[in-house]
Amino acid sequence: MTYVAFVLFFCLISCVPSSSHAQHTDLKLPLKAVNLGNWLVTEGWMKPSLFNGITNKDLLDGTQVQFLSTKLNKYLSSENGGGTAVVANRPSASGWETLRLWRVNESYFNFRVFKKQFVGLGSQGVEAVSNTPTDSQTFEIVRNDADLNRVRLKAANGLFLQAQSETLVTAHYAGSSWDDNDPSVFKMKIVKSLQGEFQITNGYGPDKAPKVMQDHWNSYITEEDFNFMSANGLTSVRIPVGWWIAQDPNPPKPFVGGSLQALGRAFTWAEKYGMKVIVDLHAVKASQNGNEHSGARDGYQEWGDSNIDETVAVIEFLAARYTRRPSLAAIELMNEPVAPGVTFDALTKYYKAGYDAVRRHTNAYVILSDRLGADSKEFLSFARSLDRVVIDVHYYNLFSKEFNSMTVQQNIDFIYHERSSELSTLTSANGSLVLVGEWTAEFARNDASEEDYQRFARAQLDVYGRGWGYWAYKCAQNHWSLKWMIENNYIKL
Ligand SMILES: *[C@@H]1O[C@H](CO)[C@@H](O)[C@H](O)[C@H]1NC(C)=O
Ligand SMILES: *[C@@H]1O[C@H](CO)[C@@H](O)[C@H](O)[C@H]1NC(C)=O
Repeated sequence: MTYVAFVLFFCLISCVPSSSHAQHTDLKLPLKAVNLGNWLVTEGWMKPSLFNGITNKDLLDGTQVQFLSTKLNKYLSSENGGGTAVVANRPSASGWETLRLWRVNESYFNFRVFKKQFVGLGSQGVEAVSNTPTDSQTFEIVRNDADLNRVRLKAANGLFLQAQSETLVTAHYAGSSWDDNDPSVFKMKIVKSLQGEFQITNGYGPDKAPKVMQDHWNSYITEEDFNFMSANGLTSVRIPVGWWIAQDPNPPKPFVGGSLQALGRAFTWAEKYGMKVIVDLHAVKASQNGNEHSGARDGYQEWGDSNIDETVAVIEFLAARYTRRPSLAAIELMNEPVAPGVTFDALTKYYKAGYDAVRRHTNAYVILSDRLGADSKEFLSFARSLDRVVIDVHYYNLFSKEFNSMTVQQNIDFIYHERSSELSTLTSANGSLVLVGEWTAEFARNDASEEDYQRFARAQLDVYGRGWGYWAYKCAQNHWSLKWMIENNYIKL
C-alpha cells in the first residue's frame, strides 16, 4: 500500500502540465515536517512566560468565571442561560452560572452568558439581554489586595452590583466593606482560561502588544532554526497562521501587524536550507473549533456558511502571495474543524471554493483537514474529484479517556494496529494522500522512561512514514518540542 501511494504521489507531481507557476517538482518524500506552533498563532501553554507582562493576566478574554455571593452563599446565574434576569440563587454552578469575560482593559470587562447575551443594567435589576456590549454592560472587577479572588463588581453607574436577595440582583450598592455579609462581595472562581492570539494582543493592549509580538516573532524562530531542522533530517515546516495575516500590516484590533513579514522570512530560510513550507490556516474568523489556537475571543465556535467567502479570501491572498516561492509545498485550508458545529456541507462548500482559489494561482498541494469528531474518511470521495489534494489527520494518544489507562506497550500497539489500519484505509482509496499533520511523542504516561519515549516515537515514525508533521518545533514542555527531543537523543530521523 505504501508503494502504491508513493508511486501515485510521484506521478501526480511529475504529470502536472507546465505553466508559469512554480512547479514544486522537487518535493522530497516522505514529507518529514515539523510544526512551527506558537510562532505566528499564540498558544500560551507552549510558552507561558510570554504572558507575564500582562496586568491581571488571569483575566483575559474568554476566561470563564463564576461568582459566589458571600452573603447568600449562592452563585449568580443568568436565568434560562440568558435573555432575562440575573439571579443569585444557585447552590452549585454549571453553564448558566458561568460567565465568559470580554476584556475592555485591565480592570473593565463584559460578561457573556451561556446564550451569548451580555450582563448589564436593566430597569428591573441586572439582566442578560443585550447581544452587544456597551457601557451599561461594562463592569470594573475590583479585587481585594489580600485575596485576588474576592471581588466586587462596579457598574457603569458607579455603584456596585449586589445580591439583594436570591431573586433580585441590582447595581445600586454604595458600600465598601469586604465582609462576608456585604451583599456586594463575591468569591470569583476561574474555571477555564484561553491563551491565544486574541488574549495576548488584547491583554497587552494597543500600546504594548505590537512590540511584544514583534520581539516574539523575531526571536522564537530564526534562520538558525532552519539550519538545525535541515541538518537533522527535516524536509519541511508546517506553519500555522491566523486569518488576520491577510490584513497585515493593519489587521483588525486587537491583532497586530508583522506576522506576514515573519512568514516571508520563513520562506526565504526554507529556500536557503532546501526545505518546503506548508502554510496552514490555523485560525479562521469566527473560530472553527473554539480553541485558543483558532484565534477565538471567548471560545464559542461560530464559523459557518456566512464566513465562507471571507475565509476563501484569506486563502486566495496566501496563494497569490506565495505562488512564485519555490519552497511552497502546500496550503492547508483550515486546521481542525470540529463536528458537528462545522457541518460537512459548509466545509465541503468551503473546501471546493478554497481549492479553486489556490488553483487560480498555483499547483501546490491543497490540504484538507478531517473534522474532529467525524469519520476521517468523509472527505475521501470529494478529495478524489480534485487534483493534488491531501487529507490531514492529527494523531494524539491524548485528550481521550481511552488513553489514560493504557500501558506504554498498549500505546505502541495502538500505533501499529489502529493508526496503521486507519492510514491504510485512507491511502488505499484511489490515490488520495494522507498527511499526519500533527503528532507528538508525549502520551498519557507520567511514569514513562526515556526508552519508553524513544520506542513510542519510533513506532509513530514507522507508521506515519508516508508524510507527517511533529507538534511542535519548540515548546516549554520538553516532549512536545522536536528540537529538544532531537538534542536529547529521544528522536533521530
Ligand atoms: C478602562 O475602561 C474603562 C471603561 O471604558 C475606562 O473608564 C477606564 O478609564 C479604562 N482604564 C484604563 C486604564 O484604560
Ligand atoms: C476506486 O475507483 C474505482 C473506479 O472509479 C471504484 O470502482 C472503486 O470503488 C474505488 N475504490 C475505492 C477504495 O474507493
